[in-house]
Amino acid sequence: MTRRQPPDYISEIKRMKAKKNAIILAHYYQTGDIQDIADFVGDSLALSQKASSNSADIILFAGVKFMAETAKILAPGKKVLLPDMNAGCSLADSCKAEDFVEFIKNNPGRTIVTYVNTTAEIKALSDIVCTSSNAVQIINSLPKEERIIFAPDRNLGNYVINKTGRDIVVWNGTCHVHEEFSLEGILKLKNENPEAKIIVHPECELPVRMIADFIGSTSSLLNFTKKDNGKCYIVATEPGIIHQMKKENPDKKYIPAPPKDSTCGCSECNFMKLITMEKIYKCLKDETPEIFVEKNILTDAQKPIKRMMEISKKLGL
Ligand code: 13P
Ligand code: SF4
Repeated sequence: MTRRQPPDYISEIKRMKAKKNAIILAHYYQTGDIQDIADFVGDSLALSQKASSNSADIILFAGVKFMAETAKILAPGKKVLLPDMNAGCSLADSCKAEDFVEFIKNNPGRTIVTYVNTTAEIKALSDIVCTSSNAVQIINSLPKEERIIFAPDRNLGNYVINKTGRDIVVWNGTCHVHEEFSLEGILKLKNENPEAKIIVHPECELPVRMIADFIGSTSSLLNFTKKDNGKCYIVATEPGIIHQMKKENPDKKYIPAPPKDSTCGCSECNFMKLITMEKIYKCLKDETPEIFVEKNILTDAQKPIKRMMEISKKLGL
């Protein structure tokens, strides 16, 4: 008896994409092989922009749930698939709708700005959404006298206060990946590689941000390594981004920043890494799991996301 060969996932995925008029959108924190089969790879802002302007019938999201939900909110007529519904986000989880309603009540009269790393329910409660690519510009676009609530990331929130000097109360949420970078570990690496530049995502804690040569969203970090004349970088964000950095500049050296817990050794986002090639294949074949957002929530969540996208477009972001 001959044993059945496992399917060749990559060629099957390519075949099904063409047959079903589907596209794969992947975040930079996906594994390199998944980034390479995607039709588009980007940061949260670019992925939202792509989700709202494409001619596919199906969007398969290689990322986490809040990203796929944002795609569904922006393209409600399309089928949006997420290969693993457990691909959540510790930051989005840190802000539950019922607690946020209470927070808003306790801080009345403030404009509600939320980072895209939230559930659709939180977006529906917001005046405007932002991503790490445009948080400073979005806040600066609001009238000077407006007082603001920023949620859910306290590190990004404090970074934005520092950059804008605005009156902002910040929700006390964090990302378990960015919160965990070790200041001592990064300084040790810098000592061993004195020529290295330290590049940091704004979700990192203040001590790590303070030693950064450059702070920015995933795409800004990538652009920095592309244009900068340095040769070596200590990268304080999820190491999936290094795949693109290496593709752009293979001769440069990229060192992932270490986490505080040295037993685990790497700073991968366990949620992002739930997406595998096999799950993408099965998801595209069976067209499940599919993302659904309740109609009222979808309508209310659309406004603050679209407002962000209009401002971003005006500012050329
Ligand atoms: P970016 O918007 O910079 O891609 O960040 C997304 C994210 O989840 C950071 O942890
Ligand atoms: Fe969420 Fe952090 Fe993972 Fe980004 S890295 S998806 S913020 S848990």
